[in-house]
Amino acid sequence: MLISGYLFDNLISLMDANDILMSESYLETLKRIHDFFLPKMYLEIGIRHGKSLALASPETCCIGIDPEPEISVPVHKNTLIFPMTSDMFFSTVHADIIDPGSLDIAFIDGMHLFEYALRDFINIEKYCHDTSVIILHDCFPVDYESSQRTRTQLFWTGDVWKMIVALKMYRKDVKISLLDSDPSGLALISHVDPHSTILRDLYDTLCDQYIPIHYEWFEKNKGGYFPVIDAKTFDFTRIF
Ligand SMILES: C[S@@+](CC[C@H](N)C(=O)[O-])C[C@H]1O[C@@H](n2cnc3c(N)ncnc32)[C@H](O)[C@@H]1O
Repeated sequence: MLISGYLFDNLISLMDANDILMSESYLETLKRIHDFFLPKMYLEIGIRHGKSLALASPETCCIGIDPEPEISVPVHKNTLIFPMTSDMFFSTVHADIIDPGSLDIAFIDGMHLFEYALRDFINIEKYCHDTSVIILHDCFPVDYESSQRTRTQLFWTGDVWKMIVALKMYRKDVKISLLDSDPSGLALISHVDPHSTILRDLYDTLCDQYIPIHYEWFEKNKGGYFPVIDAKTFDFTRIF
């Protein structure tokens, strides 16, 4: 089989990533999260083929949001798909679909830029309750190229990692469990507060502060800010 140079570069990039985070795949971790928590209401931003969305139990009501969904995996019948950006969903549709306090688990995997992930978190948290869990994908960058704000290759985590730093700095009330799920980590954020307005009030400041930070900052500070936990043996009751 011939592998194009582009694909080859991305395979190498993923292999490098696997050298760093060699736990179970993020889909395996997500499946165990669904089986453990059995959420009544689950929302996912960024669904693409539906692989992660399809992991929910058939009893769970699921909301999937993506401007370009390409569903190729069967999803359960309790699933509503909104073909739009998450910003559009939260500025137009949300009130008819989700009641405040009804969201049990949400997975943020849409646009991989800090300010988008931040807005997704702010919008989602409003619909949470005190035992909800917000899961953030791609928050442990694996190399310089894949964590740039401009996408240059297939495997791309962007600068979502800055969310961990911002939450640790400005939302000391939430608990962050950073799992080493392959290939680029899953952060389980618990102790969320639907009444908190801190991130919303500071949105512009946070963008000014974090968007200019470079990957080198992560390399220097990851020991202190990004202690990863083995996903395979993680006891989910520890998030509370
Ligand atoms: C990495 S894929 C999601 C993969 C999926 N969660 C899974 O694990 O199988 C990212 C998706 O985010 C979508 N996306 C990009 N910008 C978005 C936005 N502003 N709002 C919602 N989804 C977005 C893309 O169309 C793409 O399908």
